[in-house]
Amino acid sequence: MRAKIVAGNWKMHGTRAESATLIDAIIAGLRADSAQCVLCPPFVYLSDAWRLLRGGSVALGAQDVCAETHGAFTGEISAAMLKDVGCQYVLVGHSERRALYGEDSQLVARKFAAALSRGLTPILCVGEQLAEREAGRTQEVVASQLDAVTGLCGVPALDAAVIAYEPVWAIGTGRTATPGQAQDVHEFIRQRMAGQDAKIAADVRILYGGSVKAGNARELFAMPDVDGGLIGGASLKADEFLSIVAAASG
Ligand code: PGA
Repeated sequence: MRAKIVAGNWKMHGTRAESATLIDAIIAGLRADSAQCVLCPPFVYLSDAWRLLRGGSVALGAQDVCAETHGAFTGEISAAMLKDVGCQYVLVGHSERRALYGEDSQLVARKFAAALSRGLTPILCVGEQLAEREAGRTQEVVASQLDAVTGLCGVPALDAAVIAYEPVWAIGTGRTATPGQAQDVHEFIRQRMAGQDAKIAADVRILYGGSVKAGNARELFAMPDVDGGLIGGASLKADEFLSIVAAASG
């Protein structure tokens, strides 16, 4: 039985005070049997977040990481730095990083490796654009994004990782994949990995992301290969996020 995870990706939202208020409200609203929660605030609020989360059940994550370990890389943040401020998780390959900042699958694979090398759990984001889905290329796109990582790091590396399937056309658009559409791709991802390592394929958590809300979380999480969610917009409202966590719990 795979334990579900619900991760909140705050993107570039909120102030320092709002972040603290949101964390306090989330902590206060969690139950003893709540699913594993991960919060990914902006870099500059990570230390503050860690002070509030430390010793509790909610894990801290970052939204990105540099592929390099250290050096003259102005503006970048290394995996060791993230670890140093309390992160356990880090998103790699979010579609906004791929589309807006030109990150290709090779760079994403190097970021994945950098995260693992410092004991961070990478949440590897994969997903197709609308035109790719309409052209019937969803599996091909997702497979090539996965293969870049397994090609560099090997399939066993996925044992220490989480995958997030996020169809780009569903991110921030209010247009969610149907539970059936999500399940089809999650099953494809798992089967593709099973071809190389059945145990890792059976154990790896595959989250769904893309306009998950309190109102659709339960039916998405009920799918056999959907192991929780990566939540953007709805993670900025404590009540909404807690309802999504509740849908993944118990
Ligand atoms: P959304 O974002 O929930 O606002 O669609 C999801 C994501 O980008 O991870």
